[in-house]
Amino acid sequence: MTAPQTVLGLETSCDETAAAVVRRHGDGRVEVLSSVIASQIAEHAPYGGVVPEIAARAHVESIDAIAGQAMREAGLGYGALSGVAATAGPGLVGGVMVGLSFGKAVALARALPLVAVNHLEGHAVSARLGAHIPYPFLLLLVSGGHCQLLAVEGVGACRRLGSTMDDAAGEAFDKIAKAMGLPYPGGPALERLAEGGDAGRYELPRALLGRKGCDFSFSGLKTAAARLAETVRSEDERRDLAAAVQGAITRQLAERSERAMSLYAHEHEGRDLRFVVAGGVAANKTVRARLEAAAAAHGFSFAAPPLAYCTDNAAMIALAGAERLADGLTDPLDAPARPRWPLDEAAALANPTHTPGRKGAKA
Ligand code: KG4
Ligand code: ZN
Repeated sequence: MTAPQTVLGLETSCDETAAAVVRRHGDGRVEVLSSVIASQIAEHAPYGGVVPEIAARAHVESIDAIAGQAMREAGLGYGALSGVAATAGPGLVGGVMVGLSFGKAVALARALPLVAVNHLEGHAVSARLGAHIPYPFLLLLVSGGHCQLLAVEGVGACRRLGSTMDDAAGEAFDKIAKAMGLPYPGGPALERLAEGGDAGRYELPRALLGRKGCDFSFSGLKTAAARLAETVRSEDERRDLAAAVQGAITRQLAERSERAMSLYAHEHEGRDLRFVVAGGVAANKTVRARLEAAAAAHGFSFAAPPLAYCTDNAAMIALAGAERLADGLTDPLDAPARPRWPLDEAAALANPTHTPGRKGAKA
């Protein structure tokens, strides 16, 4: 059994400045000793989305205090750490550089090993913050910038089964919510509005229905919903449209995941089958419930991160760092910030389903 790893994690790739201290024991048990998140939502809200320049400045202003608070709340001095893990990409590069540089400074000053963490690997391990989930597992990673299905075989070993050809699911939630006049970030606002709504009142396109493979597409749905948003007037109609949008996104996530489950089950015959959903959209109750039912129908166990670790946080970065440290994987102090950094680089090169866009090319 390896020694426990106590890691300071730093996350600054989008609009949250976050720091956390996580201890991973040799038997795989995980303790979150602190997790601090400073959201910049108020600063970006007037613009209806994240403004990279504002984000980078806000990270610079708060990273020092947030990291200090995480250490205080954990009740530890820097001498008690085994290493520092910082998100090195993918994401808004100005922000990534802030957290990564801060992490390098701590590592240099305290002679600690540095782990440059892929933000997506953080999401991939996030469910392990709440429960012991052994490798391998099938992962649906659904956030504001990403929507992909991955076979996760072990630390840093991911194989992409499918990815979005246009928008990420969270991006679709956000853009449709914006078209409906809901506040940023749109996903949670749309979920609240959809409560008690009739998802059957409005027909929305069923993209890729019956199509082979595990790719996603949300642009047709986005356009159709935005058009409908211009016609709805009453609160009832708005609620029903929100429910229809949530239903359509959920349906596609479930349909594509079920395809991936069939493929994955075939490849992992005779082994325990596990399905994990992670990322901001995994906070959605309708999405979680539908995926849980799909997993059960295909003989998979189901897991999702505790709600606090669905959206961006540093505890998942610290845990990804701790798992790497335990395997002896560290990075040099000149590790670069990477705006684009696919988890499965081979698949991304062979089949770049993403066309460059505001967020899209990150995946
Ligand atoms: O993982 P995350 O914090 O950031 C990225 O790495 O992208 O995910 C944020 C995304 C946003 O698009 C947000 O609208 C969506 O997750 N989201 C939700 C919910 N909570 C967050 N979407 C639907 N329902 C929710 N409850
Ligand atoms: Zn994220």
